[in-house]
Amino acid sequence: MTQRFQFDIRATDGKARTGLISTPRGDIRTPAFMPVGTAATVKAMMPESVRATGADILLGNTYHLMLRPTAERIANLGGLHKFMNWDRPILTDSGGFQVMSLAELRKLTEEGVTFKSHIDGSKHMLSPERSMEIQKLLGSDIVMCFDECPALPADRDRIKQSMDLSMRWAGRSREAFGDRPGHALFGIQQGGLEQDFREESAKALSKIGFDGYAVGGLAVGEGQEAMFGCLDYAPDQLPQDKPRYLMGVGKPDDIVGAVERGIDMFDCVLPSRSGRTGQAFTRRGVVNIKNARHMDDPRPLDADCTCPCCSQYSRAYLHHVFKAQEIISSMLVTWHNLHYYQELMSGLREAISEGNLSGFVKQFHATRAQGDI
Ligand code: GUN
Ligand code: ZN
Repeated sequence: MTQRFQFDIRATDGKARTGLISTPRGDIRTPAFMPVGTAATVKAMMPESVRATGADILLGNTYHLMLRPTAERIANLGGLHKFMNWDRPILTDSGGFQVMSLAELRKLTEEGVTFKSHIDGSKHMLSPERSMEIQKLLGSDIVMCFDECPALPADRDRIKQSMDLSMRWAGRSREAFGDRPGHALFGIQQGGLEQDFREESAKALSKIGFDGYAVGGLAVGEGQEAMFGCLDYAPDQLPQDKPRYLMGVGKPDDIVGAVERGIDMFDCVLPSRSGRTGQAFTRRGVVNIKNARHMDDPRPLDADCTCPCCSQYSRAYLHHVFKAQEIISSMLVTWHNLHYYQELMSGLREAISEGNLSGFVKQFHATRAQGDI
């Protein structure tokens, strides 16, 4: 068993990289997509099914789990892996970002943030120290620094203040995390769309020293063009020899563009959440299975897909179970979407290995341009 957390880059193509993150709980092939398992479940999926789609690692959330069922309860039951029956790596987000988007009556100070639960109104506190403690209780393999992410657009002063605070919190997170062999701590770059603040943030994080580096504060409403504009420089500011993780991204074309710009890891609720609303991602773009045009269609969702949904069910059946609000509708389309995302990552990894990323990207866009037929 590998005892150490390690990142090996196996091949590069332009700025893109493919490699392997080794952890005691298993390897993570990069570029990697992490399905979101917010409340100790990837909604509508059994853990073995998530694995069957090709996922090497899941994402969990400090904020949700501290409120319900609580980190202490999960620790007493043997940790998050055992609790949810997933024995491979888990990355946990630190809670700050979710507090800002979900909690009520938030109060932000140098110390941390106090807030009321969106579930029952109970009062709670998160700080770098408490976030590290919770992620340790959960048994997370990749722990994220406690940070603050300002909503965009924001003025430069606000972005700078927030980035400085996040960098002080990054230092406190590093201190509180301590030395935990086999477990990793990732820093989170902030700075909005301001190149000089991103540079400052990257320097502050590199000085502290982390096992990996996330690009935070993007995909918060700025649009793809602005996000790619930032990704044209942000990954280059971070250490070359450590994994780079773009938080909360994204649509398939966002992921492809970010891999071209040097990102190694992604997470997003899109494939799982869309699965529950009948939005399917396919090579030819998004298909809304609730649309009446599928009512009599005996063909699979995606003829080129080998997932259980596409190999065993028709569009007509999927349309019917969505209309009838049957639970299997969420299960089937979530499985397909997660399979599609993992196939995309596998295709990207192979293309980078073969030095053919630009050919892969051209084909990706050309197939989508044909549309669903
Ligand atoms: N998820 C998406 N963006 C962010 C971010 O900037 N920080 C954290 N902690 N989580 C995120
Ligand atoms: Zn499929």
